[in-house]
Amino acid sequence: MKNSPIIALDFSTASDAYHFLSPFEQSLFVKVGMELYLQEGPAIVYKLKEMGHDVFLDLKLHDIPNTVGQAMKGLARLGADLVNVHAAGGAAMMIAAREGLEAGTAAGNTRPSIIAVTQLTSTSEQQMQKEQLIQTTIEGSVVHYAELAKTAALDGVVCSVLEAKRITDACGPEFLRVTPGIRLAEGDAHDQVRVATPNNARILGSSHIVVGRAITKAENPVKAYETILKMWEENA
Ligand code: C5P
Repeated sequence: MKNSPIIALDFSTASDAYHFLSPFEQSLFVKVGMELYLQEGPAIVYKLKEMGHDVFLDLKLHDIPNTVGQAMKGLARLGADLVNVHAAGGAAMMIAAREGLEAGTAAGNTRPSIIAVTQLTSTSEQQMQKEQLIQTTIEGSVVHYAELAKTAALDGVVCSVLEAKRITDACGPEFLRVTPGIRLAEGDAHDQVRVATPNNARILGSSHIVVGRAITKAENPVKAYETILKMWEENA
């Protein structure tokens, strides 16, 4: 799996995604989320893999263990490099997800990596306490979910940059910390609450960054990507 910034292909059609990708000359690490996948289905993943890109299939599954396990068995056949579930689904669900991936991976192939979503980066502490009735800090909840994902032998978590260091301390440096909420300047948050720049993400302990609008909505996406890549690699 590459370590370059993961570009969130938050488009509603495959042709918009291909149009966006056409000026890029290198192979990339891209993220297909529910917006694109629910319109285009497995074909989009096959095609992106054929084009030479690494694919994070960000479907954030959350259901009973059997259903998630069976769904993951099917997803393993698509060739995605990274998939995810919500940690809030519980340890049994996360174990079923990983086992489903293992069962669906052809002999001799490596199973896709699997990470757990902790608290969405759009969630504030106040919202979490009021709406989810979780009476701790965001960081406390995220680290708890990370430890739960680790006990289920998942490969890492999606978290905000602000929690990455504590997760490394709790779960070890090999445990992935994939962080969205990346902005070129701290002020430009859109709907994300917990944001950071690519340099800060590296310094604060992200293992991978996910970048959507800062690249996809840029006037020159290739240039924006190059800038973010440089910032990300500066402190490697
Ligand atoms: O445009 P922006 O950079 O905010 O996009 C971030 C991407 O990361 C989106 O595709 C969003 O769905 C995803 N994501 C997130 N927070 C999470 C998990 C995924 O923002 N906790």
